[in-house]
Amino acid sequence: MNCHRIVIVLITWCVFSVCAPTRVCATGDAPLAVKLGEKLFNDTRLSADRTIACATCHRRERAFANNEPVGTGINHRAGTRNVPSLLDVGLQRALFWDGRAPDLETQARVPLLNPAEHGFPDALAVLSVVRGDSSYVEMFTQLDHLKSADEISLLHVSAALAAFERTLRSTPAPFDRFFRDHDTTALSASAQRGFEIFGGRGRCTTCHVVQEDHALFTDMQYHPSARGLPGTVNDRLVELTGRVLELKNDPGSERLEHAIAADAAIAALGRFVVTLDPTDIGRFKTPSLRNVALTAPYMHDGSVATLDEAIGLELYSRGAALNYPIVVTVDEKQDLIAFLRSLTSVPTPSHLPAAGRSGHTDTSSTSSVTGAEP
Ligand code: HEC
Ligand code: HEC
Repeated sequence: MNCHRIVIVLITWCVFSVCAPTRVCATGDAPLAVKLGEKLFNDTRLSADRTIACATCHRRERAFANNEPVGTGINHRAGTRNVPSLLDVGLQRALFWDGRAPDLETQARVPLLNPAEHGFPDALAVLSVVRGDSSYVEMFTQLDHLKSADEISLLHVSAALAAFERTLRSTPAPFDRFFRDHDTTALSASAQRGFEIFGGRGRCTTCHVVQEDHALFTDMQYHPSARGLPGTVNDRLVELTGRVLELKNDPGSERLEHAIAADAAIAALGRFVVTLDPTDIGRFKTPSLRNVALTAPYMHDGSVATLDEAIGLELYSRGAALNYPIVVTVDEKQDLIAFLRSLTSVPTPSHLPAAGRSGHTDTSSTSSVTGAEP
């Protein structure tokens, strides 16, 4: 291997891991923080009616996503967006379909205070649960050198949740054995043909990026949804964008967050709520396709029921956007499905710590992650 190549690989590794804004670069999270975060993640007492935990929507066996079109929180309240997988989430540059949360710590408080998710009215209501549990108090006081339960803040809670989430790494999938380890027996002939179309005339890798050292299947950028903007939203753009402006001018309040989770028309505006740039209306973050076979239905609003339909829609709309029709035969579409299925690799609880240690980047976490579902 020549020096140039080593330098390029190192730089890419640095850009995508060490310097990632989600602090994956730090020395790693303390094992106690990870353990504490996992307990919080699985705890249904951490919701206004004690029925909803993070793990209710982010289910380990579904790659920390689920199979509902949109998330359902307390009192069976439906949200507006499809639940994303949390595997490799520590490598994302920004969180949510519109990228409105800059890091995992900022993200974690959002569902706790959202009426359509955990439903707590304010931070104090969250903290009264945590401060009232002696095992949480013991762990937080030890971890954060606090003098008493009263010093536990929402920042401590979200930092622990984030520490746990950074350990959620995908394990090598059949595709990785084929692509990285050059094991040609790891993929069926059909999946290999599918990969050729995916990276070749399908041009899927323009956005669902595959590189030798990190195949996360996302460019972490925002692109128009293949669904297009719903007509009913298009007709109300002046009113809806005006409302977003008004909600954003109310700093410190959770009103914009609540509107995104409660009003499908606001949620459909996508990246616009972050940048207020009209060209960002209806743009969403490219999802990673790892474990995509486990997470139907698809797209930001969960409106596409099957992988077959999602691929059909993507082929059609991405080709149309480029003015380059991407035509595949029925058999070739099956090849694409076989390829996407080869990206399945959910860590089981027993392999999680090992996956954490040998994952895409560092993590010095060695805590035992038990993965109990509520
Ligand atoms: C009611 C279901 C539900 C619950 C409960 C829930 N989430 Fe989520 N989660 C979602 C949905 C839906 C999204 C996407 C929302 C959006 O993009 O606006 C999401 C997005 C995320 C993301 C961003 C992922 C990415 O790739 O952008 C993270 C991280 C996350 N949730 C962590 C948590 C944590 C931590 C908790 C518990 C404190 C939690 N979630 C509770 C439904 C839920
Ligand atoms: C221009 C960038 C771009 C290209 C090219 C592209 N995609 Fe996507 N893809 C996206 C975005 C953005 C989404 C999310 C859209 C949404 O939520 O409405 C997505 C969603 C998907 C999904 C659904 C994933 C999920 O978890 O909901 C699948 C499957 C998919 N793409 C496959 C493909 C295939 C196959 C190709 C090649 C034919 C392709 N994509 C080309 C950007 C792209």
